[in-house]
Amino acid sequence: MKRFVIGNWKANPLSQKRASTIIRGIKAAAKNTKKVQVVVIPPTPFLVPAKKEIATTKSILLGAQDLFWEESGAFTGKTTPQMIKDVGAKYVIVGHSELRATGDTDDIVNKKIRAAIKAKLQVILCVGEKKRDGEGNFIKFIREQLQAALVGIKPKDLEQIVIAYEPIWAIGTGKVADESTALEMILLVRHTLTQLYSRKSAEKVTVLYGGSVNAKNCSAFLTHPEIGGFLVGGASLQPKEFSSIIYETGQRT
Ligand code: PGA
Repeated sequence: MKRFVIGNWKANPLSQKRASTIIRGIKAAAKNTKKVQVVVIPPTPFLVPAKKEIATTKSILLGAQDLFWEESGAFTGKTTPQMIKDVGAKYVIVGHSELRATGDTDDIVNKKIRAAIKAKLQVILCVGEKKRDGEGNFIKFIREQLQAALVGIKPKDLEQIVIAYEPIWAIGTGKVADESTALEMILLVRHTLTQLYSRKSAEKVTVLYGGSVNAKNCSAFLTHPEIGGFLVGGASLQPKEFSSIIYETGQRT
């Protein structure tokens, strides 16, 4: 199975010109491997120029960082699923901790997932604990986060969902999780999916790791086939660094 290397640019860069430069800088790496699905997720205003930039290659797909659950109407500032599809994006991130921190509750995350599924978008669902406490409460937390996000999601809808385990303590901090921690949590995600659905359905879902991934630390994760790739923030803005992550992932898949 292909692995994913997904670049979440967050609120960067500051110009369309730089956005195009980043994409141009990763094209060669993306083209050189058939084992990696590269996805670029720029800020909403740069989706259109990004789409133009990737038009000449099939090896990079586009995603959006957020969506609104209504189809259209009087919702100032919102981006609807259909708009995301119309500009050629196939993926959308839902449940990122930075959006949960600014008001996205479990209920909102669930509404966004349902809207994305309905619109036939692929969802990148993020889950992750704030800290790893000694009592193991983080295990319960992840299970509940998943369960709440997936209310009303049918087994066949799981084909449209990729899950990213992103511990908050590792995002943007340089404190990457060690591979055994990431593996353990990814197995927990899959086990929870098995309980919520079935083994067969759970096995179809790709589970990624995210949080301070870079070209140097990515290889260790790739020794485990259960780790389906990476959601990359900071390092996805540096074309050389991101290209190396793509290359390493291709080599070890
Ligand atoms: P980071 O971000 O790679 O900068 O830690 C990851 C993410 O938030 O998706």
